[in-house]
Amino acid sequence: MPPEQQKHAAANESLRFVRDGQIVGLGTGSTATIAVSLLGERVKAGLKILGIPTSTRTAELAKSLGIPLVTLDQYQQIDVTIDGADEVNPQLQLIKGGGGALLREKIIASISRQMVVVGDATKQVAVLGKFPLPVEVVPFAQTLVSKKISDLGAKVKLRQSANGSPFVTDEGHHILDCFFGQIPDPSALAHVLDSMPGVMEHGLFINIASVALIATDSGVKELRRPGVS
Ligand code: A5P
Repeated sequence: MPPEQQKHAAANESLRFVRDGQIVGLGTGSTATIAVSLLGERVKAGLKILGIPTSTRTAELAKSLGIPLVTLDQYQQIDVTIDGADEVNPQLQLIKGGGGALLREKIIASISRQMVVVGDATKQVAVLGKFPLPVEVVPFAQTLVSKKISDLGAKVKLRQSANGSPFVTDEGHHILDCFFGQIPDPSALAHVLDSMPGVMEHGLFINIASVALIATDSGVKELRRPGVS
């Protein structure tokens, strides 16, 4: 099955986690976009949900589909969030942020009763780190943070937009893409990055995702975070 079809299959499967009357976190990225579009169809057919988007891109898409949106100022708890990931390991630890929305994505996921990850088969890995870890930084400290992360053994690149200027996130920050190769202890690295001044957020999602729906040629696999039923 080509990746596009797998993404669609995983996104479609995620809809069974959404119920009438819920507050739903709307993810960012190509797979989440499919999920949001499918949710839009359900809303047109009568499903009553309120969405909280994880990016301005997703907000625009959801609005165009007629999904009613609310903000974090109105609601501070979310029933279920559906979002993609760049890598998922067996502990359901994730690398996210390939689409540059990791800060809002983590805030939304962290207050969600359930975070459902959707992805094609390429997203499932034994060890995180082949995908460069996105780290969102304040522009003021980007060179300093870049050096500190290089000292941890990563090759660090400032993410650029198509026009060659630094990519700017929805919150006005820059992104460092950090090539670690392998991250044997994601929690330990997350801890180091959490305590690095200038880092606004990083793409390691630890103990956040509850379910991952990974589409393969033989169907959509449902993976649960160990210890989460
Ligand atoms: C967006 O910032 C990311 O976290 C995405 O969820 C992630 O990059 C996966 O995107 P795709 O579904 O496009 O692969």
